[in-house]
Amino acid sequence: LPREKGWVSTLHQYQGFWHGTRFIQGVLSFQKHFQSQNADVILVSTPKSGTTWLKAIIFSLVNRTTFPDPKHHPLLTTNPHVLVPFLELDLFINDDENRLPNLSSFSSSSSCPRLFSTHLPYVSLPESVKSSACKLVYLCRNPKDTFVSLWHFTNRLRPESWGENSMEEAFEKFCRGVSLYGPFWDHSLGYWKESLERPEKVLFLRFEDMKREPDINLRKLAEFIGCPFSEEEEAKNVVENVLKLCSFESLSNLEVNKKGKLWSGQAHKAFFRRGEVGDWVNYLTDEMAERLDLIVEQKMHGSGLKF
Ligand code: A3P
Repeated sequence: LPREKGWVSTLHQYQGFWHGTRFIQGVLSFQKHFQSQNADVILVSTPKSGTTWLKAIIFSLVNRTTFPDPKHHPLLTTNPHVLVPFLELDLFINDDENRLPNLSSFSSSSSCPRLFSTHLPYVSLPESVKSSACKLVYLCRNPKDTFVSLWHFTNRLRPESWGENSMEEAFEKFCRGVSLYGPFWDHSLGYWKESLERPEKVLFLRFEDMKREPDINLRKLAEFIGCPFSEEEEAKNVVENVLKLCSFESLSNLEVNKKGKLWSGQAHKAFFRRGEVGDWVNYLTDEMAERLDLIVEQKMHGSGLKF
């Protein structure tokens, strides 16, 4: 596979997209062995687009009758990445092909679907995911904030001895499309096109819209998944309660997210930084911003997708 010295580790190009060395095996195993069910809901995102937030929201949404009391909710003691695992990064990541994940603990019914997530581009999804009636919820974020968030994230994961990965160096790579699951624009365009052709299959969400109108987007998500809020729930402020529980303030201040670690060693706190729109102005020069805007504009040209 073509390779590039990457951000945290070497990246390998597979099916047109860049993957970290240690995750390639999980991608292949997921592609080969995962059998999607019609009731599944799979959250897809570009890294640093707010995946952790959306995992928390989707989990609370589909389990709202199972856990109606926000004071005794699994999110208070469990990180969202544990509740909604990544297929290729968590579940299918095992060198031994004979030890495939046991997915029987995931419930499966239309009222409470199995919830998974992935960072894979549309082209790389297993055939069963594309052809079954399972739903894909795609989340992306404007590329400048995505880049800045990714830079902070990868530098936090970097062993101290490696020194800092300069922002300029990382930016050059991002502009060439070399970043985790990049090129960023091809990732977004793949799902954007699919969401236009099959709106019942792919819901296209943006971090910025979620921040601006969280309640509207949560209702849209609930409709799409097939569990809209009833009038009774609306009257009881269930929408607001879900959003409050999953807010940046709430999640980032929980003990579990301040101290814990994922099985892969990543600190839970690495997934919470500022959680705002437009933080890129504090890091990118005007020249960098213009350059990235231009690249993205050219790549998106004629697609109807704008950032
Ligand atoms: P910043 O680095 O800009 O703060 P991902 O979950 O895809 O890895 O994305 C991480 C980004 O989402 C980080 O962005 C993080 O702070 C932000 N984030 C995490 N939880 C959030 C929440 N509940 N609300 C809004 N943003 C959140």
